[in-house]
Amino acid sequence: MQELRIEGVSKRYHHVAALTVTTLTVAAGEFLTLLGPSGSGKTTLLSLIAGLIESDSGRILLDGKDISGLPPYRRGLGMVFQNYALFPHMTVAENVAFGLQARRLPVAEVQQKTQQALNMVRLGALAHRLPKELSGGQQQRVALARALAYQPAIVLMDEPLGALDRNLREEMKFEIARLHRELGTSVIYVTHDQEEALVLSDRICLMNQARVEQIDTAQALYFKPQTRFAAEFLGESNLFPCQVQKFDGANVLTLDALGLRLPYAEPLPASDNILLMLRPESIEVGSTTAPLPAGVLAVWAQIQSSQFLGAMTRLMVRVGETDIRVLQRTTSLSDLQQFTPGAQVQLWIDPARCHVVTA
Ligand SMILES: Nc1ncnc2c1ncn2[C@@H]1O[C@H](COP(=O)(O)OP(=O)(O)O)[C@@H](O)[C@H]1O
Ligand SMILES: [Mg+2]
Repeated sequence: MQELRIEGVSKRYHHVAALTVTTLTVAAGEFLTLLGPSGSGKTTLLSLIAGLIESDSGRILLDGKDISGLPPYRRGLGMVFQNYALFPHMTVAENVAFGLQARRLPVAEVQQKTQQALNMVRLGALAHRLPKELSGGQQQRVALARALAYQPAIVLMDEPLGALDRNLREEMKFEIARLHRELGTSVIYVTHDQEEALVLSDRICLMNQARVEQIDTAQALYFKPQTRFAAEFLGESNLFPCQVQKFDGANVLTLDALGLRLPYAEPLPASDNILLMLRPESIEVGSTTAPLPAGVLAVWAQIQSSQFLGAMTRLMVRVGETDIRVLQRTTSLSDLQQFTPGAQVQLWIDPARCHVVTA
């Protein structure tokens, strides 16, 4: 098992900065996902690690050894890309064996490792088929077997499920999670799909405009994003400009948009330009019968629209000039009656569920 470390790596294409990474460490056995919009530098980073392109500066260290000068096949990494690129004239087994033969392993070992890799992805019985005789998901599993066959320390995957339809994507997602669990290999996985990132990752490296925006667990990234970009990219959020004042050493935030002042116990970012984030599910439409819970603040709002989604109802409400998104749990028919457009409701806001990000 090996640790991968990236130090000061950058890549430009003419005048476009495609990537700048100060430091990034992938622990042995970790599943790290590079998540970000199209063009944010995910493929560039993966290609630099793989050795498919050369960086302009910096070092890539595998267990402390600089591998930036090595060609791809000498880095000991497995790769799976969106277009699985199986050799069409070779059988499944031959496709998987190809990389092992290129490494000049003895014939018996090639056979044994090929079979083992195919069993791992549950394709042992289809070893003699040609790629065109397989479904898209099966082909992608052959690509996985090929990448895993020589037991690389790290497997790199660039949107491996991108070409599959929805059901297959679900199935493959669990297959990849299972393989990672069973093999303990490190995985660096690229996707722009936040659900894939949430389900699979030990940590998510959120990328934005050729930089690393934030690296954290899925939970930390969701509940404690550091920036507006992170707050908006993962999940939904309401963001309100706010001012900070200090009373007896404690921070109090003033939200002009909602006419609210609330205590804020978390540390504040260094920036002056801050926004208060409230996830739609963190706002509650207050009960008309129960009293306001201690510490919770109330604001009157008007329902603009409501969408019944079953377990949840999605509301758009307005406070003054400000539209706010609310996701409310629906437990009974009578809950729905107060969500009629035009109705006045109380929003309950718990300061403990508020979080500040930099704008
Ligand atoms: N071969 C190339 N030539 C010129 N620009 C490129 C090339 N490859 C990538 N880029 C640019 O580098 C940036 C990052 O691209 P990429 O790493 O492919 O992003 P992602 O995988 O996140 O969609 C983009 O602005 C892209 O247009
Ligand atoms: Mg890409």
